[in-house]
Amino acid sequence: MENNIFVMDHPLIQHKLTILRDKHTGTKQFRELVNEIATLICYEATRDWPLKDVEIETPMQKAVTKEIAGKKVALVPILRAGLGMVDGMLNLVPSAKVGHIGLYRDHETLQPVEYYNKLPGDIEERDVMILDPMLATGGSAIDAIGIVKRSNPKSIKFLCIIAAPEGLKALHEAHPDVAIYCAAVDEKLNENGYILPGLGDAGDRIFGTK
Ligand code: PRP
Ligand code: URA
Repeated sequence: MENNIFVMDHPLIQHKLTILRDKHTGTKQFRELVNEIATLICYEATRDWPLKDVEIETPMQKAVTKEIAGKKVALVPILRAGLGMVDGMLNLVPSAKVGHIGLYRDHETLQPVEYYNKLPGDIEERDVMILDPMLATGGSAIDAIGIVKRSNPKSIKFLCIIAAPEGLKALHEAHPDVAIYCAAVDEKLNENGYILPGLGDAGDRIFGTK
């Protein structure tokens, strides 16, 4: 693996992912699990955040301890399915601003079609975390990152739950500067661009459509 592709192998993530994949898992539990896994991925994806010294007083004495050094973050879910990860991320990064990019895959061409774009006005001062549970062909993630890059953020990370090897390769080649965090790299894509074994259509399973 490249040094900016991180595959989470924590037992809690792997266990929750198994339940998420199961076709018998219903909408309520699916939503909860997507958020829980997002929180756990967030924990890993923030590991490199810089710290600074701060002086405080404990009930016992003064002490120099650490705090996160002025981190300004923007979460950018790719609609629809990325929305399912937002609350789980906000559990750990509650002051983040949230932008939205609307993309859907054309069912015939599998090409992403943009239909919405609203990013925080001060995104140039922010580190951006783009969220989408599924990285399949990579087309949606590549386009979303391209859109965010036009606004010149300080940095971009891409967080997903399941990646196909094809999408991982395409995304890394298109945006080698963007670190990718995912919970699993699956086997392959099928002829319709769905991830195998995957979990089906993430948007439909989160929102109970279809
Ligand atoms: C899904 C998923 C990603 C995209 C991944 O969204 O949430 O955004 O497909 O596929 P790709 O890597 O081949 O681009 P979909 O297009 O089904 O839209 P939806 O979230 O509105 O259901
Ligand atoms: N989008 C999904 O929701 N699932 C897949 O397997 C591929 C793309």
